Amino acid sequence: MKSPPSNHQVRRSFSSLDNREISVHVLREELPKYKVKALINLEGVWFMPKIAIIGGSGFYSLLENFDVLNIETPFGESMVEVGSIENVEVAFLNRHGKGHKIPPFKINYRANIYALSAIGVERIIATNAVGSIRPEIKPGDFVLPDDFLDLTKRRDYTFYDGETEIFIQGKAVREVVHISMTPSTYCPEIRDAVLTAAKNIGLSIHDGGVYVATEGNRFETPAEIRAYSSLGGTIVGMTGVPEAVLARELCICYSTVCLVTNYAAGISGLVKLTHEEVAKTYAEKLKELRRLITTAIKEIPKDRSCPCKDALRGALVESP
Ligand code: HPA
Repeated sequence: MKSPPSNHQVRRSFSSLDNREISVHVLREELPKYKVKALINLEGVWFMPKIAIIGGSGFYSLLENFDVLNIETPFGESMVEVGSIENVEVAFLNRHGKGHKIPPFKINYRANIYALSAIGVERIIATNAVGSIRPEIKPGDFVLPDDFLDLTKRRDYTFYDGETEIFIQGKAVREVVHISMTPSTYCPEIRDAVLTAAKNIGLSIHDGGVYVATEGNRFETPAEIRAYSSLGGTIVGMTGVPEAVLARELCICYSTVCLVTNYAAGISGLVKLTHEEVAKTYAEKLKELRRLITTAIKEIPKDRSCPCKDALRGALVESP
């Protein structure tokens, strides 16, 4: 194994699925902050993916060659695959875990987003399975939302709890932070990359819409869907929040590509909605979704000129 540079120190060893050892090295001067500076595997390959994909229900893998990292964070552990797709370095996170064992309300959103930040990720393209609240948006359609409504109930919504020290952009932050979701709830650069990619591959996608985040695990009642419709909702899903908020809190660009798997409760009459239906539509469209994501990755500009990287500016509550 090629030795890491002498100013690096092994923080922790990881074991990938095929039992190869992976080590994460951090710069000595960064200790004890444990801000990961580079990843190295047994072949001496350094990974520093700046783009991550988060897969939801039905989308459990993407990369052609990858190693699996179990990353420890102040909020718990997260498992991230790092590797490449069509020669671009990418991280992939399966939010429901191996074998889809983690329900939406039990996902450790904070550990997941913190882990991606720790390995150097600056941009996230997420994917979500959703129900459609609008008759004109049909199962099998793709939607790129531009806003959300949060109707979840019991999740950890922030990194900045006033106690935990957060390492971000080389600084320690312990203050209370009030992050802003304006001027764009989702990253405009990632949205543009997805729209360009869709155009290039001839895939139709609804540009805009309000994602309604519900707690689950049950699907909604028809009355709830009528209420969300009158509030301006377009699509409904269970995992889009707090993921988008936590990414903004760590100044990571975030946007989500939603795949409509069904009409939401009551939209196409009082038919029984099943997870089977959700899984079936997702499976039918997975190939197109992968192609869209893979193409979008290449459309993301190298340097960020969106406001996401400056999300902490003016957001910290300083002690009086
Ligand atoms: N409601 C909530 N979450 C969902 C749905 C839905 O109709 N379809 C896929 N995920």
